Amino acid sequence: MSDRIKRKIIIDTDPGQDDAIAILLALASPELEVLGITAVAGNVPLELTQQNIRKTCELAGRTEVKVYAGANAPMKRKLFTAEYVHGATGLNGIELPKPTMPLQSQNGVDFIIETIMKQPEKSVTLCTLGPLTNVGIALERVPEIASRIKELVMMGGGLFEGGNVTPAAEFNIFVDPDAAKLVFDSGIPIIVMPLDVTHKALTTAARIEKIRAIGTSVSTAVTGWLEFFERFDEDKYGTDGGPLHDPNVIAYLLKPELYAGRHINVEIETKSELTIGMTVADYWQVMDKPKNAIWMTELDADGFFDLIVERISQI
Ligand code: BDR
Ligand code: CA
Repeated sequence: MSDRIKRKIIIDTDPGQDDAIAILLALASPELEVLGITAVAGNVPLELTQQNIRKTCELAGRTEVKVYAGANAPMKRKLFTAEYVHGATGLNGIELPKPTMPLQSQNGVDFIIETIMKQPEKSVTLCTLGPLTNVGIALERVPEIASRIKELVMMGGGLFEGGNVTPAAEFNIFVDPDAAKLVFDSGIPIIVMPLDVTHKALTTAARIEKIRAIGTSVSTAVTGWLEFFERFDEDKYGTDGGPLHDPNVIAYLLKPELYAGRHINVEIETKSELTIGMTVADYWQVMDKPKNAIWMTELDADGFFDLIVERISQI
């Protein structure tokens, strides 16, 4: 595939096993040019998320990828982490060597701002897989970046499925609702992969076996991660497999036809103690407010897992 038609992306992430699989999916895809990967504090603290990104790049043999550390805490709140889901390292399920590829000296927020200002207008897509802190800080510092971003595709929020940290809030929005509010109010074209979609992407035993059957070191790592990561949600929801959240962001860039949703207004609750971090998504369009996001609800789950198997096989 020629460089001219590659889609330029920045991945902003807090690995997390599902984040790591999303990174692998992106690195395995010739349609995408990964300009850089920025770490944010989320599932585990920043020191671990930046290392986990580098471990994942090394697993894929992609030591040339530029990795940056961004914010170590939400914009206005104390960090809430999710070791109870992802394990103490964030990537429990398989032991990977301590990374040796470099962490860039530039801060991740500065990298995001500089890249968007330097690249041609509307040429960079932001893929956010964690709390929106880095993007929120970037928007606060240089609001002009908003009109230069092609699209922001995020994993976050929930409407029909409710929340997964509180009854109202999904983890990525709950951790930094103030940053999420800045993003949803920014005018950037936004595509949301909420729990309404990701709860359809279940890592069933049959799907995990297809990944295991690839028989490479990468597929062994992915199966190890999935088997660790799914146990929490299997217990909670009583399903065969758990939701594989973050790779939906990358899969959408590769095969948008796997998804369907609606262009609606979405606002973020930042004040209420009971519902802080809620994505107030006007799916039925009962308010006359501007549409600021495409809210996905439908997924061709078999097509999604076929894509993952196809691309993981190529690493
Ligand atoms: C989101 O929270 C994290 O635990 C996952 O990595 C995903 O980004 C799901 O709510
Ligand atoms: Ca994540």
